[in-house]
Amino acid sequence: MSTVLEINSHDRQSKGILGRHSLDSIKRPLTKIYIEPTTVCNLKCRTCIRNSWDETIGSMDLTIYRKLLSDLREFPSLHTMAFWGIGEPLTHPEIVNMVALAHEMGLKTEVITNGHLLDKDVARGFIEAGLDTLVVSLDGTTQTSYEAIRLGGNLMCVDENIKEMNMMRAKMCRKNPVVGLEFVIMKSNIDQIPYLAEKARLMEASFIVLSNLLPCTEDMKDEILYWIPGTFGNEQERPFLVPDLILPRMDMHE
Ligand SMILES: C[S@@+](CC[C@H](N)C(=O)[O-])C[C@H]1O[C@@H](n2cnc3c(N)ncnc32)[C@H](O)[C@@H]1O
Repeated sequence: MSTVLEINSHDRQSKGILGRHSLDSIKRPLTKIYIEPTTVCNLKCRTCIRNSWDETIGSMDLTIYRKLLSDLREFPSLHTMAFWGIGEPLTHPEIVNMVALAHEMGLKTEVITNGHLLDKDVARGFIEAGLDTLVVSLDGTTQTSYEAIRLGGNLMCVDENIKEMNMMRAKMCRKNPVVGLEFVIMKSNIDQIPYLAEKARLMEASFIVLSNLLPCTEDMKDEILYWIPGTFGNEQERPFLVPDLILPRMDMHE
């Protein structure tokens, strides 16, 4: 059964139609699915695509979610469901239930969050629901650097919520959820990277994901740390210096 669709523009030139795409199936089993429970969010991050977006904001109804789970039974290769997208998953009133239902189906579950709404009830709910991984988005390790990007954000609140959840998980003698950090690196926050390891230690995070910025608004274009050939002319005309990133030897196996 073909389960993944890939956008393919191979017929663009032959048909001479600019922008025409065909969807071809590729034969790789479906292993992970990303669900966006809601596009509602409680922060106004400078990086967010919502700043250049006029889509209607909405949330997934639990009936649709149950139907989706039922349909996904057709994919025995599926092992992970990630609650991930543009909105903040914890604004969805049924997020804990959604995780529990996926867990009951035997799936590994991951949630990405800004951490502000992770109160004691939600934390206990996630632990009991069997959530495997909670990824906390940071983009800054001090309140000043954090709120410069995550407008309206309160880093102390996030720190406290994660600390509480970690203590609760230990008291309940559970190993999950494992905590991870996600950090979008930009010109204005690259100086924060040396402090990330300590932040991860304090938050008992097991991994850190560093990702590049996809600029969604004109002003964010100047924040990127990579060079897109042709965007700024030739290499000598690079508008900024990309710092060397030196990584230690590491085990890349899961
Ligand atoms: C859009 S947020 C939504 C989930 C949740 N509200 C949160 O803050 O993690 C998901 C992830 O995308 C990252 N992100 C947001 N805008 C981005 C951009 N323009 N380029 C790359 N990553 C971005 C965020 O930092 C976050 O780690």
